[in-house]
Amino acid sequence: MVDGTVHAAMTGVYYAGVAPWMLCEENAANAIAAPLNGEAPFSYQDTEEDRLRCEKEMTANPFPITKEGLDRAKPLYDIYCGVCHGVKGDGQGVLVTVPDAKYPAAPKNLLGDDMIGAGNGRFYFAMVYGKNVMGGYTDKLSYEERWQVMHYIRSLQAKSKNLEYSEKANSLSNIEKPAEQQKELTTF
Ligand code: HEC
Repeated sequence: MVDGTVHAAMTGVYYAGVAPWMLCEENAANAIAAPLNGEAPFSYQDTEEDRLRCEKEMTANPFPITKEGLDRAKPLYDIYCGVCHGVKGDGQGVLVTVPDAKYPAAPKNLLGDDMIGAGNGRFYFAMVYGKNVMGGYTDKLSYEERWQVMHYIRSLQAKSKNLEYSEKANSLSNIEKPAEQQKELTTF
């Protein structure tokens, strides 16, 4: 077996845990050499065209909303994103608000209506590639952690609008599924 490649039998197991949108032909074709660190195939290039395509195609969060996931994502968000985007998501992180801050660009306000309306793929793409002065986070956040951080950002957006985003209910959007509602759907 060549380094960095996955044996055919192993990819079978691997794909069992991958979201359906990753199994579209094009993604599957590009995902032959899937790394072994829990990473999932990501076939988008770092171009404006692919950024837009990613936002359009990558809609669902492959993980349901759970309290455990949100609790785990909070410190990850605070450390890796909050320093710039603010612990509330309003773009007012300490790197920009400390006196004499030298940070060269305004971090995006993640609570703006444009970002509340933005598809999950736009955030995920930013976590993979970064944007302009913002770097990517693939070396800091695992595949699952990125999606849990995504949930956490949605929960901050919901909080800013006095809406609920939890394992019980999601009144922010009908895209992400609260774990308890999913359980109800699958128990009979
Ligand atoms: C060191 C500061 C910094 C950190 C840390 C940081 N960002 Fe950013 N981020 C920025 C800046 C600055 C921009 C605006 C980039 C631009 O549009 O030129 C941005 C833009 C974004 C955007 C908007 C991208 C778009 O399509 O317009 C998203 C989403 C985002 N960041 C998410 C995150 C997440 C999630 C994390 C943590 C994993 C994070 N950022 C960490 C500085 C940061």
